[in-house]
Amino acid sequence: MLKAGFGKLIGTVRTMRRKEAIRNLPVTIVLDNREAVKNADIVFLCVKPYQVKKVLLEISGLLRDKLLISVAAAVSTSVIEKIVEEVKVVRAMPNISIIAGYSATAISPGSNVTERELAIAKELFDSMGYCIVVDEQYMDAVTAFSGSGPAYVLVFYEALLLAGLKIGLPREIASELAIHTLIGSVHLLNKAGKHPAELRDMVITPGG
Ligand SMILES: NC(=O)c1ccc[n+]([C@@H]2O[C@H](COP(=O)([O-])OP(=O)(O)OC[C@H]3O[C@@H](n4cnc5c(N)ncnc54)[C@H](OP(=O)(O)O)[C@@H]3O)[C@@H](O)[C@H]2O)c1
Repeated sequence: MLKAGFGKLIGTVRTMRRKEAIRNLPVTIVLDNREAVKNADIVFLCVKPYQVKKVLLEISGLLRDKLLISVAAAVSTSVIEKIVEEVKVVRAMPNISIIAGYSATAISPGSNVTERELAIAKELFDSMGYCIVVDEQYMDAVTAFSGSGPAYVLVFYEALLLAGLKIGLPREIASELAIHTLIGSVHLLNKAGKHPAELRDMVITPGG
C-alpha cells in the first residue's frame, strides 16, 4: 500500500513486546485502537473473527464517515452493521500471497457504502495483487476457494519438488525448476484462453 502511494499507515498491537517485534516496519505502530482510528480515513479490521465484536465496540463511536474494511472470515457486513449502526463497511477476503503483492482478493460492499468508497477499497487491494467485487452471498465460498487457495497450490508445489528429488535432481535445481514451471503454466493458462485439458493435450504424448 505504501508503494502504491496510499499515504500514511498506522497499525495497532496489544503489547509492547509485539510493538518491539515489528519496529522495523515502515508503519507507525500504536497500542491504542481508538487513537489509530481517530487519525484514519480507512480502517482495516484484521483480528480473528471471534475478536471482531469486542474491537468494533471499542471503536464504534469513531467510525462515522470512515471506511471500514473487514477481512474477518465468515463475519458478514450485516453482522457488522448491527454492531455499529450506519457503518460503511467493505468485507474483503484476501489470501496469504498478499505478502508478495499477489493476493487474489474478493470484496463486497455493505449497505451504506457508495460506489466511490467501493472503488477506493478495490484500488487498495488492486495495489496488493488482483481484486474482484462479488456479491456477498459468495464470500464464504471465496474464503474456502481463493482465501485458502495458496495452501492447495503449495501442496502441489511440494509434490512437484519431491518428484524432482526422487528422480535424482539436486534440491536447488528441483526447487527453481518447480517454481518456474508453476509460474510459466499459470501465465500460459492466463494468456492462452484455452481449456487446461486442451493445453495438456499439446504436451502429453502416448508413452511420453
Ligand atoms: N490467514 C489468512 O490467510 C487469512 C486470509 C484472509 C483473511 N484472514 C482473516 O484475517 C484475520 C486475521 O487472521 P490472521 O491469520 O492474520 O490472525 P492472527 O495472526 O492471529 O492476527 C490477528 C492479529 O490481531 C491482533 N489483535 C487481537 N486483538 C486485538 C486488539 N484488541 N487490538 C489490536 N490488535 C489485536 C493480534 O495480536 P496478538 O498477536 O497480540 O494476539 C494478532 O496480531 C482473521 O479474521 C481471518 O479470518 C486470514
